[in-house]
Amino acid sequence: MKVTVFNGSPRGRKSNSHRIVSPLLEGAKEAGAQTEEVFLIERDIRQCLGCFVCWGKTPGKCALNDDMAELLDLFLESDYAGMATPVYNMYMTGLLKNFTDRFLPLSMPHIKKNDDGSFYHEGRVKRFPRQFFIANSGFPGAHNFDLIKAIISYQDFVLEIYRNCGEALQVTDDDDPRLIKKIREFSDALKKAGREMATNGRVSEETVRDVHLEIISDEEYMAGGNKYWDELIDD
Ligand SMILES: Cc1cc2nc3c(=O)[nH]c(=O)nc-3n(C[C@H](O)[C@H](O)[C@H](O)COP(=O)(O)O)c2cc1C
Repeated sequence: MKVTVFNGSPRGRKSNSHRIVSPLLEGAKEAGAQTEEVFLIERDIRQCLGCFVCWGKTPGKCALNDDMAELLDLFLESDYAGMATPVYNMYMTGLLKNFTDRFLPLSMPHIKKNDDGSFYHEGRVKRFPRQFFIANSGFPGAHNFDLIKAIISYQDFVLEIYRNCGEALQVTDDDDPRLIKKIREFSDALKKAGREMATNGRVSEETVRDVHLEIISDEEYMAGGNKYWDELIDD
């Protein structure tokens, strides 16, 4: 059993995304899975050229020679593959979007029609990993993920995590003990989600609910964030 997460934050190992991914993978590891987090910012991933060489001249093989072939192998050999991203301009980072554009070699060129009138490309390989998605936003509130949710609703994900107030995850020992406690509870819920995914192949409704519990009120978060910027700008 292998669980892999592709982290699309430009902040890499210092990201809030990593603070979400880390306990989730810890839980999966406790349940016996082999785990890996790939920091896309550390890898050589060029932009898709749109040349369609991977569909025509060399089926399944991209014309570009960078880290992507290795990462697609890693994706395909995983049982569960997750994508993690901060919300950037209501959507995912360019880094993660660029990475997912490079999945083109894994699909076939022919256009197929679904019963509902939509169209798709069939997968080139027989077995794809089951997938999950993690997003965190800098804003408080409930609407930061509307666009992401609309776009990924076409796919069948084992787990979707939408963490608002993402910057609160940078909590330190000097912070409000109530916030420290909430973040610890969030982290515990993530661990449980990872354990359940690796053990049962699904995450219970109760755990999904716990992962989405409020960690800080919108007003407190806004006040803390605005104070941080006021002090920084004044210096
Ligand atoms: C270019 C840019 C665009 C952003 N756009 C949004 C946005 O549309 N909505 C939002 O809630 N936060 C936005 N943010 C804030 C990030 O989502 C937030 O800082 C997040 O916690 C960073 O997570 P990370 O540490 O995993 O990268 C943006 C940040 C940057 C740098």
